[in-house]
Amino acid sequence: MCGIVGYSGSRPAAPVLVNGLKRLEYRGYDSSGIAVEEGAQLKSICRTGRISELERSLPDFHLTGSCGIGHTRWATHGAPSEANAHPHLSCEGDIAIVHNGIIENHAELRSVLEKRGHRFTSQTDSEVIVHLIEDAYARLAFQTSEDDDMEDALGKREERTPASEVKAGEPSLLLQALSMATSMLIGSWAICAISSHEPGIIACARKESPLVIGHGADGEHVASDVTALQGVVPQVCVLGDGQFADVASHSFAVFSSVEERLISAKGEMMRLDWNAEVAERGRFADFMLKEIYEQPRVIRDTLEGRLNHGAITISELSLTHEELNLVDRVVIIACGTSYHAALVAKNLIEGWSRIPCEVEVASEFRYRDPIITPSTLVVAVSQSGETADTLAAIRDARIKGAKVFGITNVIGSPVARESDGVIYTKANKEIAVASTKSFTGQLVSLTLLALLLGQAKGRLKQAQVRMLFNELANTAEQAEAILKEASAIDEAAVSFKDSRSALFIGRGMGAAVAEEGALKLKEVSYLHAEAYPAGEMKHGPIALIEPGFPVIAVATQSPTYDKVLSNIQEAKTRGAMVVAVATEGDEGIGQFADHVIFIPRVRDAFSPITAIIPLQLLARKIALLRGCNIDQPRNLAKSVTVE
Ligand code: AGP
Repeated sequence: MCGIVGYSGSRPAAPVLVNGLKRLEYRGYDSSGIAVEEGAQLKSICRTGRISELERSLPDFHLTGSCGIGHTRWATHGAPSEANAHPHLSCEGDIAIVHNGIIENHAELRSVLEKRGHRFTSQTDSEVIVHLIEDAYARLAFQTSEDDDMEDALGKREERTPASEVKAGEPSLLLQALSMATSMLIGSWAICAISSHEPGIIACARKESPLVIGHGADGEHVASDVTALQGVVPQVCVLGDGQFADVASHSFAVFSSVEERLISAKGEMMRLDWNAEVAERGRFADFMLKEIYEQPRVIRDTLEGRLNHGAITISELSLTHEELNLVDRVVIIACGTSYHAALVAKNLIEGWSRIPCEVEVASEFRYRDPIITPSTLVVAVSQSGETADTLAAIRDARIKGAKVFGITNVIGSPVARESDGVIYTKANKEIAVASTKSFTGQLVSLTLLALLLGQAKGRLKQAQVRMLFNELANTAEQAEAILKEASAIDEAAVSFKDSRSALFIGRGMGAAVAEEGALKLKEVSYLHAEAYPAGEMKHGPIALIEPGFPVIAVATQSPTYDKVLSNIQEAKTRGAMVVAVATEGDEGIGQFADHVIFIPRVRDAFSPITAIIPLQLLARKIALLRGCNIDQPRNLAKSVTVE
């Protein structure tokens, strides 16, 4: 949530910063801003709305400075407004900061700082940071003391001693001030700060929220996500948790805090393999559509190299066959779409290995002292690899002695780094806020894990594993077939685009697909949708049904198909407008459903991989008909880095 960028180099900073922000816009898009060093001053521009609003105002400001910072915001504290947009400036306007994260003790700090004479101009939690830096900087550079109130401090600044120059291996004064400021903070942060007293320097700090630095031919770049720097720099330094960095126009230095001193440290370098196609929509109208069509490729890539001599291989799990055999319980933690992939996996893991498996929303898991033992395998599923709740749950599980296995889409992400082993979903960068292809990557990865556990427990024989793997691989072709024929989906979309609410139903695997279908519809079309296990409908939700009420039923061939059919009839009898996702060759279902979307026959275990595709397309089509922004739905952000 929130994206930050910084640039210090030889080009005018403003366009570089705005380009970086555009690439990070998926992290938050309610307001944005930049601050640039212009001569001996800092100039800042903030705008509400999309980055394009900020970009439109740039020509009015004639900014030429070559060092600056920028921010795209997803509001937590304080409404989306220009006053609350970052960068935040110090009282004197000589220091500016951008922040991603949450400052939990901001209210206490604010009241202390206000008593010392600092003037706040926003309601954000982040603004305390710049005032804390201002105080610390005054002490370091202008010899004020902690007892001076703001007026005294400012008086002393009139006869200020110039800030020291940055020397190799020594932190700038700004970085020292930033380090002093962060020692007062409780919460999470990635911070970039600039000061008019130390031109060309961007001071950076990181705790929990990610921050990377890249060395380019034109200067140094900073960003909260590699996405902003792909194609810009060949590799990045991933700032470690608790580390600091001074970024100058053609070099940067990393520091760790040791007993309140900043000591030179090494950052971890990561190569950026950049495929320009990922960031282009190509022939597709939006990224969501493009990503839906990428799903057959995701299935193939995620499966590549996983079957060796009839056995599933996931060497990244870093558990021996014997250790796997000792696993007596699996707990999967995730949020949103990733949670729905986990619901599918529960059925597969229990079915194939008979190991009890629980699935829990990460935000609940972390606060309820769950029972986790060293023989529990905890699996954390996260597309972004930086969801705050999932990360906190991982940390909790590891403290309790469990091995944690991460499933993520983002190489080098916090989930990947903090887990004992990781499997990458090979979806490639997902740009649309609504997850589609990463759900498929998660389903395939979790299915591999379930096969591996079945194999380790001796419940799946080699021939069965091979047969199941081949059927799983076939879903790529089946997905392609679904994507070729979308006319029934479009017709269904037209018939309920003006509804106010919809009910998604299914049983077994279909219940999890219904959950994900309902989430997709809510996210992109703003139509209220609720998912219910079909058998539960008569225990309450059936009261919602009146003539024309949309009911979307996942009615693929499965052991509970007949039961789902009965539930569809119960809805139909009460006047529901039924859209059914059914298996090709099901000639009977047409008499109970107003619209039938046929998909190829697949084993029930793999049906979520194919059955979700029509529901993704349906949600997108309805959103399009309702005039919604497909790739950036209101109020959402791609990475949820706050609790
Ligand atoms: C999915 O369409 C949503 N954008 C959201 O529910 C998402 O799945 C959830 O926030 C979890 O994110 P993660 O997979 O990156 O952890």
